[in-house]
Amino acid sequence: MSSLFPSLYDLAMQPLEKRKFRKIRSEILSMADGRVLEVGAGTGINFPLYKNADRVDAIEPNQAMIEKSISRKNSAAVPIHIHRQSAEDLEFADKTFDSAVATLVFCTIPNPDKALAEIKRVCKPKAKILFFEHVKMEQPALALAQEALNPIWKRICDGCHLNRDTLLAIQESGMKVTNVTSYYKGLFLVIECENNDGSR
Ligand SMILES: C[S@@+](CC[C@H](N)C(=O)[O-])C[C@H]1O[C@@H](n2cnc3c(N)ncnc32)[C@H](O)[C@@H]1O
Repeated sequence: MSSLFPSLYDLAMQPLEKRKFRKIRSEILSMADGRVLEVGAGTGINFPLYKNADRVDAIEPNQAMIEKSISRKNSAAVPIHIHRQSAEDLEFADKTFDSAVATLVFCTIPNPDKALAEIKRVCKPKAKILFFEHVKMEQPALALAQEALNPIWKRICDGCHLNRDTLLAIQESGMKVTNVTSYYKGLFLVIECENNDGSR
Protein backbone atom coordinates (compact mmCIF):
# COMPACT_ATOMS: atom_id res chain seq x y z
CA MET A 1 0.00 0.00 0.00
CA SER A 2 1.56 3.28 -1.08
CA SER A 3 1.59 5.69 1.85
CA LEU A 4 1.55 8.65 -0.56
CA PHE A 5 -1.80 7.70 -2.10
CA PRO A 6 -4.04 8.91 0.76
CA SER A 7 -2.17 12.23 0.91
CA LEU A 8 -2.34 12.87 -2.81
CA TYR A 9 -5.84 11.51 -3.53
CA ASP A 10 -7.90 14.69 -2.97
CA LEU A 11 -5.35 16.85 -4.79
CA ALA A 12 -5.21 14.53 -7.80
CA MET A 13 -9.00 14.35 -8.00
CA GLN A 14 -9.61 18.12 -7.70
CA PRO A 15 -9.85 18.97 -11.44
CA LEU A 16 -12.36 16.16 -12.13
CA GLU A 17 -14.29 16.89 -8.95
CA LYS A 18 -14.69 20.55 -9.89
CA ARG A 19 -15.66 19.84 -13.48
CA LYS A 20 -18.20 17.11 -13.15
CA PHE A 21 -17.87 14.67 -10.29
CA ARG A 22 -19.30 16.85 -7.54
CA LYS A 23 -22.59 17.16 -9.43
CA ILE A 24 -22.69 13.39 -10.15
CA ARG A 25 -21.91 12.60 -6.52
CA SER A 26 -24.60 15.04 -5.27
CA GLU A 27 -27.19 13.47 -7.54
CA ILE A 28 -26.57 9.90 -6.45
CA LEU A 29 -26.13 10.75 -2.78
CA SER A 30 -29.45 12.59 -2.75
CA MET A 31 -31.07 9.22 -3.64
CA ALA A 32 -29.53 7.49 -0.60
CA ASP A 33 -32.00 7.55 2.27
CA GLY A 34 -32.72 5.77 5.55
CA ARG A 35 -29.74 3.93 7.01
CA VAL A 36 -26.98 4.07 4.41
CA LEU A 37 -23.89 1.90 3.91
CA GLU A 38 -21.01 3.66 2.15
CA VAL A 39 -18.36 1.25 0.85
CA GLY A 40 -14.73 2.38 0.61
CA ALA A 41 -15.38 5.94 1.78
CA GLY A 42 -11.73 6.96 1.37
CA THR A 43 -11.11 10.58 2.40
CA GLY A 44 -14.83 11.12 3.04
CA ILE A 45 -15.34 13.15 -0.10
CA ASN A 46 -19.03 12.15 -0.16
CA PHE A 47 -19.75 12.95 3.48
CA PRO A 48 -20.76 16.63 3.01
CA LEU A 49 -23.15 15.65 0.21
CA TYR A 50 -25.55 13.42 2.16
CA LYS A 51 -28.86 15.20 2.66
CA ASN A 52 -31.55 12.52 3.00
CA ALA A 53 -29.80 9.81 5.02
CA ASP A 54 -30.81 9.17 8.64
CA ARG A 55 -27.36 7.76 9.34
CA VAL A 56 -24.38 6.66 7.28
CA ASP A 57 -22.15 3.70 8.18
CA ALA A 58 -19.00 4.25 6.13
CA ILE A 59 -16.55 1.39 5.80
CA GLU A 60 -12.93 1.84 4.76
CA PRO A 61 -9.97 -0.56 5.29
CA ASN A 62 -7.14 2.00 5.00
CA GLN A 63 -6.40 3.77 8.30
CA ALA A 64 -4.64 6.70 6.58
CA MET A 65 -7.76 7.30 4.47
CA ILE A 66 -9.94 7.11 7.59
CA GLU A 67 -7.83 9.74 9.34
CA LYS A 68 -8.16 12.08 6.35
CA SER A 69 -11.95 11.65 6.45
CA ILE A 70 -12.50 12.66 10.08
CA SER A 71 -12.91 16.42 9.54
CA ARG A 72 -15.49 15.77 6.78
CA LYS A 73 -17.32 13.34 9.05
CA ASN A 74 -17.43 15.94 11.82
CA SER A 75 -18.90 18.65 9.59
CA ALA A 76 -21.45 16.47 7.77
CA ALA A 77 -25.16 17.29 7.94
CA VAL A 78 -26.08 13.71 8.91
CA PRO A 79 -24.52 11.33 11.47
CA ILE A 80 -21.62 9.38 9.97
CA HIS A 81 -20.07 6.34 11.66
CA ILE A 82 -16.76 5.13 10.24
CA HIS A 83 -15.78 1.46 10.53
CA ARG A 84 -12.43 -0.06 9.58
CA GLN A 85 -13.69 -2.94 7.46
CA SER A 86 -13.32 -4.45 4.01
CA ALA A 87 -16.26 -4.78 1.65
CA GLU A 88 -15.65 -8.52 1.28
CA ASP A 89 -16.25 -9.10 4.98
CA LEU A 90 -18.89 -6.70 6.31
CA GLU A 91 -19.53 -6.85 10.04
CA PHE A 92 -23.23 -5.99 9.82
CA ALA A 93 -26.31 -8.18 10.24
CA ASP A 94 -28.34 -9.31 7.23
CA LYS A 95 -30.89 -6.73 5.92
CA THR A 96 -29.51 -3.78 7.91
CA PHE A 97 -29.45 -1.02 5.28
CA ASP A 98 -32.04 0.91 3.27
CA SER A 99 -29.43 2.16 0.77
CA ALA A 100 -25.82 1.48 -0.17
CA VAL A 101 -23.35 3.67 -2.03
CA ALA A 102 -20.00 2.90 -3.66
CA THR A 103 -18.10 5.57 -5.58
CA LEU A 104 -14.87 4.80 -7.45
CA VAL A 105 -14.33 1.70 -5.31
CA PHE A 106 -15.04 -1.39 -7.40
CA CYS A 107 -11.95 -0.62 -9.48
CA THR A 108 -9.85 -1.32 -6.36
CA ILE A 109 -11.61 -3.93 -4.22
CA PRO A 110 -9.54 -7.15 -4.49
CA ASN A 111 -12.57 -9.47 -4.69
CA PRO A 112 -15.48 -7.54 -6.25
CA ASP A 113 -17.83 -10.53 -6.49
CA LYS A 114 -17.52 -11.26 -2.79
CA ALA A 115 -18.04 -7.57 -1.99
CA LEU A 116 -21.21 -7.44 -4.11
CA ALA A 117 -22.56 -10.52 -2.34
CA GLU A 118 -21.85 -8.91 1.03
CA ILE A 119 -23.57 -5.64 0.03
CA LYS A 120 -26.62 -7.61 -1.07
CA ARG A 121 -26.63 -9.52 2.20
CA VAL A 122 -26.55 -6.46 4.47
CA CYS A 123 -29.11 -4.50 2.40
CA LYS A 124 -32.84 -4.92 2.89
CA PRO A 125 -34.93 -6.32 0.02
CA LYS A 126 -35.64 -3.47 -2.46
CA ALA A 127 -32.85 -1.31 -0.95
CA LYS A 128 -31.31 1.21 -3.35
CA ILE A 129 -27.73 0.29 -4.27
CA LEU A 130 -25.92 3.10 -6.07
CA PHE A 131 -22.57 2.96 -7.85
CA PHE A 132 -20.39 5.54 -9.55
CA GLU A 133 -17.50 3.66 -11.10
CA HIS A 134 -14.93 3.83 -13.87
CA VAL A 135 -15.07 0.74 -16.06
CA LYS A 136 -13.59 -0.97 -19.09
CA MET A 137 -14.77 1.01 -22.13
CA GLU A 138 -16.80 -0.55 -24.93
CA GLN A 139 -14.88 1.07 -27.78
CA PRO A 140 -12.26 -1.63 -28.69
CA ALA A 141 -9.26 0.71 -29.19
CA LEU A 142 -9.93 2.46 -25.90
CA ALA A 143 -10.44 -0.86 -24.09
CA LEU A 144 -7.11 -2.04 -25.51
CA ALA A 145 -5.41 1.12 -24.27
CA GLN A 146 -6.89 0.51 -20.82
CA GLU A 147 -5.52 -3.07 -20.85
CA ALA A 148 -2.07 -1.79 -21.85
CA LEU A 149 -2.00 0.88 -19.14
CA ASN A 150 -3.46 -1.33 -16.43
CA PRO A 151 -0.25 -2.85 -14.94
CA ILE A 152 1.46 0.50 -14.37
CA TRP A 153 -1.82 2.20 -13.33
CA LYS A 154 -2.39 -0.46 -10.65
CA ARG A 155 1.03 0.19 -9.19
CA ILE A 156 0.69 3.96 -9.16
CA CYS A 157 -2.94 4.10 -8.01
CA ASP A 158 -2.96 1.75 -5.06
CA GLY A 159 -4.39 -1.35 -6.79
CA CYS A 160 -6.93 0.46 -9.00
CA HIS A 161 -7.83 -1.52 -12.17
CA LEU A 162 -8.67 0.29 -15.43
CA ASN A 163 -10.15 -2.79 -17.08
CA ARG A 164 -12.96 -4.03 -14.87
CA ASP A 165 -16.44 -4.69 -16.27
CA THR A 166 -18.21 -3.63 -13.09
CA LEU A 167 -21.65 -3.38 -14.74
CA LEU A 168 -21.45 -7.04 -15.77
CA ALA A 169 -20.28 -8.05 -12.28
CA ILE A 170 -23.25 -6.18 -10.77
CA GLN A 171 -25.68 -7.81 -13.20
CA GLU A 172 -24.22 -11.23 -12.43
CA SER A 173 -24.52 -10.59 -8.68
CA GLY A 174 -28.30 -10.70 -9.01
CA MET A 175 -28.94 -7.04 -8.17
CA LYS A 176 -31.66 -5.53 -10.35
CA VAL A 177 -30.11 -2.75 -12.45
CA THR A 178 -32.75 -0.01 -12.82
CA ASN A 179 -30.76 2.72 -14.60
CA VAL A 180 -27.32 3.28 -16.11
CA THR A 181 -25.94 6.73 -17.02
CA SER A 182 -22.72 7.00 -18.95
CA TYR A 183 -20.14 9.83 -18.70
CA TYR A 184 -16.97 10.52 -20.67
CA LYS A 185 -17.83 8.08 -23.49
CA GLY A 186 -18.59 5.24 -21.09
CA LEU A 187 -15.44 5.54 -18.99
CA PHE A 188 -17.59 6.38 -15.95
CA LEU A 189 -20.99 4.87 -15.18
CA VAL A 190 -23.62 5.69 -12.60
CA ILE A 191 -25.38 2.38 -11.98
CA GLU A 192 -28.62 2.45 -10.00
CA CYS A 193 -29.83 -0.88 -8.62
CA GLU A 194 -32.46 -2.37 -6.40
CA ASN A 195 -31.63 -5.23 -4.09
CA ASN A 196 -33.50 -8.38 -4.93
CA ASP A 197 -35.98 -9.97 -2.54
CA GLY A 198 -33.38 -12.24 -1.02
CA SER A 199 -34.48 -15.25 -3.05
CA ARG A 200 -31.03 -15.79 -4.59
C1 LIG B 1 -10.17 5.45 -5.42
S1 LIG B 1 -10.56 5.43 -3.73
C2 LIG B 1 -12.23 6.08 -3.72
C3 LIG B 1 -12.60 6.78 -2.44
C4 LIG B 1 -13.99 7.42 -2.41
N1 LIG B 1 -15.03 6.42 -2.40
C5 LIG B 1 -14.22 8.37 -3.56
O1 LIG B 1 -15.30 8.36 -4.16
O2 LIG B 1 -13.35 9.20 -3.83
C6 LIG B 1 -10.84 3.70 -3.45
C7 LIG B 1 -11.07 3.38 -1.98
O3 LIG B 1 -11.42 2.00 -1.85
C8 LIG B 1 -10.81 1.54 -0.67
N2 LIG B 1 -10.73 0.07 -0.69
C9 LIG B 1 -9.73 -0.71 -1.16
N3 LIG B 1 -10.00 -1.99 -0.95
C10 LIG B 1 -11.20 -2.05 -0.34
C11 LIG B 1 -12.01 -3.12 0.15
N4 LIG B 1 -11.63 -4.38 0.05
N5 LIG B 1 -13.18 -2.79 0.75
C12 LIG B 1 -13.57 -1.51 0.85
N6 LIG B 1 -12.85 -0.47 0.41
C13 LIG B 1 -11.68 -0.73 -0.18
C14 LIG B 1 -9.45 2.20 -0.68
O4 LIG B 1 -8.81 2.14 0.58
C15 LIG B 1 -9.83 3.61 -1.11
O5 LIG B 1 -10.16 4.42 -0.02
